[in-house]
Amino acid sequence: MSNMPADWGRFAGPEEVRIEQLFTQADRLKDFSILADMPGGEIYFDLSKTHLDHAKLDLFLELADARALGDMRAALFAGDEINTSEGRAAEHTAQRGNGDDDSVSLAQHLQDRMRALVEAIHGGAFGEIKHVLHIGIGGSALGPDLVIDALGREEPLCHVEVVSNVDGAALEEAFARLDPATTLIAIASKTFTTTETMLNANSAVQWLEQEGVDDPYGRVVALTASPDKAVEWGIDQSRVLPFSDTVGGRYSIWSSIGFPVAIALGWNEFDAFLRGAAAMDKHFLEADFTRNAPVMAAFADLYYAQIASAQTRAVFAYDERLRLLPSYLQQLEMESNGKSVTRDGVPLGYPTAPITWGGVGTDAQHAVFQLLHQGTHVLPVEFIVSKTPGHDLDPAHHQNLLTNCFAQGAALMTGRSADDPARSYTGDRPSTTILLDDITPSSLGALIAFYEHRTFVNAVILGINPFDQFGVELGKEIAKAMNGGGEMEFDPSTQKLIELSAL
Ligand code: F6P
Repeated sequence: MSNMPADWGRFAGPEEVRIEQLFTQADRLKDFSILADMPGGEIYFDLSKTHLDHAKLDLFLELADARALGDMRAALFAGDEINTSEGRAAEHTAQRGNGDDDSVSLAQHLQDRMRALVEAIHGGAFGEIKHVLHIGIGGSALGPDLVIDALGREEPLCHVEVVSNVDGAALEEAFARLDPATTLIAIASKTFTTTETMLNANSAVQWLEQEGVDDPYGRVVALTASPDKAVEWGIDQSRVLPFSDTVGGRYSIWSSIGFPVAIALGWNEFDAFLRGAAAMDKHFLEADFTRNAPVMAAFADLYYAQIASAQTRAVFAYDERLRLLPSYLQQLEMESNGKSVTRDGVPLGYPTAPITWGGVGTDAQHAVFQLLHQGTHVLPVEFIVSKTPGHDLDPAHHQNLLTNCFAQGAALMTGRSADDPARSYTGDRPSTTILLDDITPSSLGALIAFYEHRTFVNAVILGINPFDQFGVELGKEIAKAMNGGGEMEFDPSTQKLIELSAL
C-alpha cells in the first residue's frame, strides 16, 4: 500500500505464507490462541487461523511500543483526558470498578442509587410493573437490547421493549405488546436532546395519558448524563439516574443505561455482568501483549485492514442469544474508529476502521458465505460460539451449530482445489473463533469489554481518538434545518425530494 505510514511498510513481506503452512511451525496453536480465565468460565480466543506469525507479531510489538500502547492504556484507566477533542476522560471502566479512585467512588454511588430504584420497582413501589418501555438510540439502546435479548429469554422479572427508531411504526408496534397500566417508561439519552429519543419519549407519555394513566410523568425514569435537562423535561429528580459525561454513549451499558437490564434480570445479574467486564479489564491491564486477547485481536484487525487491504470485517454469532452482537459492534467499532484524522487533527494517509458487518450462524451460511468462500474480497471473519446451548431441545441442535461453525473456519482456511474452477476454493481465508463456556451475565460482560479494549488498541495504533463522533453532526443539523430549525439552502436534488414529499 502506497499510503501506509513508514513503520507499517515493513509488514508487507515478500511472499505471504498460507495460513495452513503456519501450522508447521512448532507451537503455532499455543502461541496464537489465548485461554482467558474469567469469573463465569473460560473464554478461548483462537487467532491461529489468521496470517499473524512471529515475524509480524514482533513488528506489531515494536509498533505498539512506538505508539506508546502501554502508556495509553494506563492513561485510559487513570482517567486522564484521552478524549482530547472533547477535553475529557473515557471512564467506562470506572463503572465496573477499574479506574481513577474518585471516578470509581462516584460510579459506585450512582450505582447504589440505581440499585435502590430497581429494588423499589421490584418491591412494588410503583404498583405492579410488568413492562418497561426503554426509549433511546445508538449507545443508549444497542447495549440494553443486546444484553436483554441474550440473557433475558427465560422468565425475565419484567418484559422490556426497546424502541430506538423515530419511525412511529416502531413505537406503535411496542405499544401493542404493552399494558399501559403496568408499564414504566425509561428514557435513555446521554445528552437528553437527541431528537428521535425526545420525540418518542413525548409520544410514549402521551400514550400513557390517552390510555388513562393518572400521572404519566410519574411513570418515567431518566437515564442520562444531563440530569438537569431530564428534570426540566418533567421527570422528578428521584427518578433521574445520572451517569458521568466521561462515559461515552457506545460505552455506557455499564452505567445507568443498563437500568432495564437490572430491571429485567435482577440486580445480582447486572452486578455479575459488571464483574465479568472488570475481569476482562484486569486481563487487558495485566497480560503480556502476546497473551493479551484484545491486543492480539487488534493486531490481526490491523494486519488485515492495513496490509491486506480488507475493507470489511465480518462477525458471525453462532448463537441465537447473540444475534444482536453484530449491530452492537457496528456502533462500537465504526463510530469509534471510523475517522480520518489523527488525535492531533492531521489527515491520515491510511485506512482506519473497516466496515463491521455480520449476522447469525447458521443462517448466514445460506446467504452470504458463498462470497466469503469464493468471492474476490479477502476479509477477516470472526465466529463467536458457546459450548453450552441456550435451550433444552435435543442436543443435536447444538451439536449441529458447533460443527457448522467449526467447519466454516476450517473450509475458509484450507479451501479445496478441483478440476472445475467454479468448484474450487482458494482457501487461505482468515478467521478467528471465540469460544465461550456459556453465555452468562459475566461471560457477556467480559466479551463486550474485550471488544471495547480491542477497539481502543486499534485506535491507539492508528493514532486516532476513538471517543468522539463528530461525523454524526452534519446530518443532524441539516435535518433540523429541514424541520424548520434554521435557515439553510439545500442542493437541487435534496430540495426536489423535500418538495415531492410535501414537507
Ligand atoms: O448520533 C450519535 C450519538 O451521539 C451516539 O454516539 C449516541 O450513542 C447516540 O447518538 C445517542 O445519543 P444520546 O444518548 O445523547 O441520546
